[in-house]
Amino acid sequence: MRFLDLIHKKRDGESLAPEEIQFIIREYNRGKVPDYQMSALLMAIYFQGLNNKETSAFTLSLAETGEMLDFSSLGKIVADKHSSGGVGDKVTLVLAPLIAAAGVPVAKISGRGLGFTGGTIDKLESIPGFSANLSIKEFTELVRDNNLAIMAQTDLITPADGKLYALRDVTGTIENISLIAASIMSKKIAAGAGAILLDVKTGRGAFMHSKEQAFQLAESMVRIGKEMGRRVVSVVTDMSQPLGFAVGNILEVKEALSVLRGEGPSDVEQLSLFLGGLMLALVGKVRNPEDGQEELSRLLKSGFALEKFKQMVTLQGGDPGYLEKEDLFPRASYLETLRAPRGGYLKEMDALRVGKVASFLGAGRSVKGETIDPTVGIVLTRKVGDSVEEGEVLAFLHGNKEEILSASLKELGNAFLIADDQVEPPEMIHGIVPPFPS
Ligand code: URA
Repeated sequence: MRFLDLIHKKRDGESLAPEEIQFIIREYNRGKVPDYQMSALLMAIYFQGLNNKETSAFTLSLAETGEMLDFSSLGKIVADKHSSGGVGDKVTLVLAPLIAAAGVPVAKISGRGLGFTGGTIDKLESIPGFSANLSIKEFTELVRDNNLAIMAQTDLITPADGKLYALRDVTGTIENISLIAASIMSKKIAAGAGAILLDVKTGRGAFMHSKEQAFQLAESMVRIGKEMGRRVVSVVTDMSQPLGFAVGNILEVKEALSVLRGEGPSDVEQLSLFLGGLMLALVGKVRNPEDGQEELSRLLKSGFALEKFKQMVTLQGGDPGYLEKEDLFPRASYLETLRAPRGGYLKEMDALRVGKVASFLGAGRSVKGETIDPTVGIVLTRKVGDSVEEGEVLAFLHGNKEEILSASLKELGNAFLIADDQVEPPEMIHGIVPPFPS
């Protein structure tokens, strides 16, 4: 097989056979294909697309370049959850211990955030001592013995995806639904969970700006997962405004703890319970998602989910003292307030702008490997639809550099739109793929 022939084939709109796709991924991963040829092929894929069969072959070929975890010896269905990422999205910190507290093992491998704010791993690593750099052995043992582990993505799992993603990032070939679906699902398939819940965000602060694209991605990922023998459900959810009030790593851990104590914010709690209910139904623990939500609501109120979170943090090296006494967490040196320029109803709170400002303050990365500042970020005081009086605080900005803080304050002001007329809050859940039960 010649790589150049495969470029011609895709460029001319033909489909590639599974063994050709396997050859492409395997040889690229072995360093046998120069980046310029792989880039040409990716661009041909970008324009010509991949059909379902090709997308599945792409996914499996990526997954097979690294270790494939297998939890079948546990005799229980292991759950995994993925979010396509959003501003203030700390749901995994709530949902993972909640599901585990319900007796369903959760094995989550998560990437470090690149973009507006830190990812789940960055948030957890803001708890002093916590380590997400587990070996696969440690990870599987924690899942077996404790029902819960969250580990950082490693090169041992889907190494080809890491290389390809970096190449796509600099060749304008990220934004292709098939490539995105294959990239995400290859990691989920390799991570070994039998039940996968995918939260596909849509709106200004999300990877998928349009609902139509979000549903396409959700459908593609569900189809791939089912074909590979996994139970999969996707939920398309709103990311037009940030989730919860806190954006920034320590600030988000504190907010997640508040949700685990049953003290809200209500949107984070509701979404966690909604997704959790679906997950319990997906693994067959309850008859329907509503029963699942009820059970999880009890676990939240009884404090079991919080205990599970503390146990996970402790077993992964974190200091549980910080979870008992949140004042121990370090704080940013400066605090600024953004005040409403006029009274009315909050019509828009642009998640993209809020995320960018949080990142500018130091809560996110602009390039891979950059260190983030766990203390900085934004705490909002309103949700879209709420009323506000002129001069009331709309947001607190936590920063460590005065000059960055004042520029951030100005920019953050542009994220808010206040109107005279009452505004309906946006719907949080846009749809479930496939509609449950299927
Ligand atoms: N996230 C991934 O893991 N892969 C993509 O291609 C896009 C988002």
